[in-house]
Amino acid sequence: MSKIGVCIAGASGYTGGELLRLLATHPHAEVVAATSREYIGKPIHYVHFNLRGMYRNLKFSEFSIDLILKKCETVFLSLPHGVSLNYTPKLYEAGLTIIDLSADFRLKNPEAYKAWYGYEHPYQDLIKKAVYGMPELHRAELRGAKLVASPGCNATAAILSLIPLVRNRLIHMDRIVVDVKVGSSEAGSKPSISDHHPEREGCIRPYDAEGHRHAAEVEQELSIVAGHEIKVSMVPHAVGSIRGALASSHAWLINSLDDAELLKHYVNAYKGEPFIRIVYRLPPGYPDPKYVIGSNFADIGFAVEKRLNRITSFAAIDNLMKGAAGQAIQAFNIVKGFEEMAGLMVVPPKPV
Ligand SMILES: NC(=O)c1ccc[n+]([C@@H]2O[C@H](COP(=O)([O-])OP(=O)(O)OC[C@H]3O[C@@H](n4cnc5c(N)ncnc54)[C@H](OP(=O)(O)O)[C@@H]3O)[C@@H](O)[C@H]2O)c1
Repeated sequence: MSKIGVCIAGASGYTGGELLRLLATHPHAEVVAATSREYIGKPIHYVHFNLRGMYRNLKFSEFSIDLILKKCETVFLSLPHGVSLNYTPKLYEAGLTIIDLSADFRLKNPEAYKAWYGYEHPYQDLIKKAVYGMPELHRAELRGAKLVASPGCNATAAILSLIPLVRNRLIHMDRIVVDVKVGSSEAGSKPSISDHHPEREGCIRPYDAEGHRHAAEVEQELSIVAGHEIKVSMVPHAVGSIRGALASSHAWLINSLDDAELLKHYVNAYKGEPFIRIVYRLPPGYPDPKYVIGSNFADIGFAVEKRLNRITSFAAIDNLMKGAAGQAIQAFNIVKGFEEMAGLMVVPPKPV
């Protein structure tokens, strides 16, 4: 079977680099174009030093819709919010499969873009066509989809931590508080005043503490799971590690349940999911992003504070993998009918 020609737009960035890394060994896809404005004509390893020798016949090229239409069948948009938006209609009309890693098509309610991202969404018809690219929730809709809105990293950790509790109606839905710790690569490859190394190293810094954008997609998706509207309070924290996101989601159980019953709910919620691993009472105790780094796994666990009937549900992911490029490729595999783990059989290293 010949390979599908794939383009990565925004290939010089962190999620673009991860897509290049994973697609280098994908059995059914070949990267035929990798765009960048800054590094046109440079080899891939000029930016992604880890990929030396992997792409001998590929150089960064200028972003051009015409080039993408000519060469590719699928395009991954690893571009900033508000940029993907401008290119999607033309790519969609031309019949390409689009996997967008930005937030531009994640929210179903057009009003939400103004509230959370500060712009009027100009392509409301396309919002309706986009499928939220989380396989654990939308596997059936992903099959054959033309436009995939790949979830945010903090949102992925939050949603995965809460699915078992929300789906089985085990918690009071009006009191959910999500705390996320996330490494510096979530901010992208362009250093900012607060996110370049000397400022970020060693920090434990809350941000967007009065309303994080990803709460919008967490509420949207968990409301679908619950069958009614859910609100969550969500506070992310920038930490000094490079990769990894840990969601600790706090909620109160409606009835007291012992750990064995809860464990059954978690196991059942993720039965058959190739990238979900339940972590329970074995060392190191609770999910830790350290042990999923580089892989598409999400480690999920929980702890109950019995005297308060309060549960904390944990999800540990690599923000660039299950939180971005890995999940995008998982969705791509489903869209195209490939085996879901194609290109994603990365075992996390230890120690890291
Ligand atoms: N980092 C994460 O953990 C993560 C997780 C989930 C989702 N996401 C989302 O994925 C997208 C990419 O994130 P990232 O972390 O890879 O960011 P990044 O490292 O900053 O990369 C962005 C890429 O887009 C290109 N670019 C920037 N502005 C552009 C424009 N106006 N037109 C064309 N190309 C442009 C840049 O390359 P040149 O400057 O060379 O053109 C760069 O290659 C974002 O929407 C982000 O929110 C990120």
